[in-house]
Amino acid sequence: LAPRDSSKPPVVFHWIPFFGSAAGYGDDPLNFFFSCREKYGDVFTFILFGRKVTVTLGAKGNNFVLGGKSTAFSAEDAYTHFTTPVFGKDVVYDVPNELFMEQKKFVKVGLSMENFRTYVGMIEEEVEDFLRSDPAFRVFQDNDINEWGSFDVTTVLAEITILTASRTLQGKEVRDNLDKSFSGLYNDLDGGFTPINFLFPNLPLESYRKRDRAQKKMSDFYVKIIENRRNGDGDHAQDMIAALMNQKYRDGRSLKDHEIAHIMIALLMAGQHTSSASGSWTLLRLASRPDIAEALYQEQVKHFATPDGKLRSLSYDELRELPLLDAVIRETLRLHPPIHSIMRKVRHDAAVPATLGAPSKDGTYIVPKGHFVLACPAVSQTDPLVWKNALTWDPARWSDPEGVAQQAYDTYTDVNGEKIDYGFGAVSKGTESPYQPFGAGRHRCIGEQFAYLQLGTIIVTIIRNMELRLTDRFPDNNYHTMITMPKKPRTISYRRRKFD
Ligand code: HEM
Repeated sequence: LAPRDSSKPPVVFHWIPFFGSAAGYGDDPLNFFFSCREKYGDVFTFILFGRKVTVTLGAKGNNFVLGGKSTAFSAEDAYTHFTTPVFGKDVVYDVPNELFMEQKKFVKVGLSMENFRTYVGMIEEEVEDFLRSDPAFRVFQDNDINEWGSFDVTTVLAEITILTASRTLQGKEVRDNLDKSFSGLYNDLDGGFTPINFLFPNLPLESYRKRDRAQKKMSDFYVKIIENRRNGDGDHAQDMIAALMNQKYRDGRSLKDHEIAHIMIALLMAGQHTSSASGSWTLLRLASRPDIAEALYQEQVKHFATPDGKLRSLSYDELRELPLLDAVIRETLRLHPPIHSIMRKVRHDAAVPATLGAPSKDGTYIVPKGHFVLACPAVSQTDPLVWKNALTWDPARWSDPEGVAQQAYDTYTDVNGEKIDYGFGAVSKGTESPYQPFGAGRHRCIGEQFAYLQLGTIIVTIIRNMELRLTDRFPDNNYHTMITMPKKPRTISYRRRKFD
């Protein structure tokens, strides 16, 4: 056996050279990472179809990847081959990072509080319409309060997510076309946004051809909306297209129509599976803990009951002041972060700090140019060294004794009694945290507030209307999709709530 190159991280043992650890990683990345950590520590390299992927675990590992300079660790080099055929040219990872950062700022303008205030009522209305019309909720519609019905949670959440995102951010034209051509195009595009596309960008498959056709048609669809609006069609002040049409790059030029179109597609893809997966997991958890679902309902009663025994609609500002709802979502994202692997491609040899791994002669490992680096916040979010009862879903862990929820979020006492600073809130306090469902650093999610608004409104609207139960055992994770979804069966039983 040749001696291992001690300046490089240890390589995970594998039998087949090119294939490497693809099976172990692909089937259950978390289990794979935890067992690698036992053998090799927090830093190791595994082979994934010829790629060399260096994983750095824990809060410090997250910080190493997510806090790395974009000149050293590149998101576009890691992702563009499979995102650009889906989103389209000249946006996100198809442009130099500085330009994408400008585009992110434009999107932030559309994600304003002022816009959000108009969204809660729209989302509530969409969910109620859905419950009143979708065949899965026949028992609910029959007005028979004693009978239980059931629904496949992911199918329902996928529909509710796209209905509510299109009614709000995406805009009226997209919402109006959901029942027509738009859904088909979305499905074809989505069929080309899978782990297979990530691993094998150039296969001669029908799904790739469908993806390319759908991208072109969807891009044209958005461009047409923009042209019509320019010609004075309607008033759409509160949506994302309107916001993007008013922005200018630093050099003074406006966004081209196809850039706006492609940013809209990118936002659709970024928000759809992440939100529908998170909503599915939240409802599954609530269904498995009727006591917490009941407490969530009581939180609604406490704040919104009217003298005639009904629950009035809530505003965006009120939604943000509901500690249990917030903790339920936060805790679900701890156990079920939709994105398990955050990757960058290494542009220059990079030294891993000695605090992270077994040191070489100068106290560091070197991750060579051409490797990928990978952060997995899902590991630190479920690490028994950090969290008491790490695998138990316990929203109460996020509330402090006085119930001043927001303060409790900023620090958490780990199993050794040490206070950990999360750096929550608008001002980031850095990228070293064990809790990062929305990532960290320059590529951090900008959809977090929207996701909380969308998920929060969907969940309370459902909880106001029905009781939930889980009759099967709690579903396992399906890691074969880009976003971690619950495996089937993922059926929730429901019963119309009695208002008395
Ligand atoms: C980035 C998670 C919803 C738009 C990210 C990243 C994560 C994440 C982990 C970092 C990716 C990386 O560093 O490579 C989530 C979760 C969501 C969610 C858990 C819901 C529960 C949304 C929504 C939108 C959105 C609703 C759009 C409205 C974005 C954008 C980025 C991003 C634009 C930036 C990508 C970059 O800078 O490279 N998200 N996301 N996300 N997300 Fe989200």
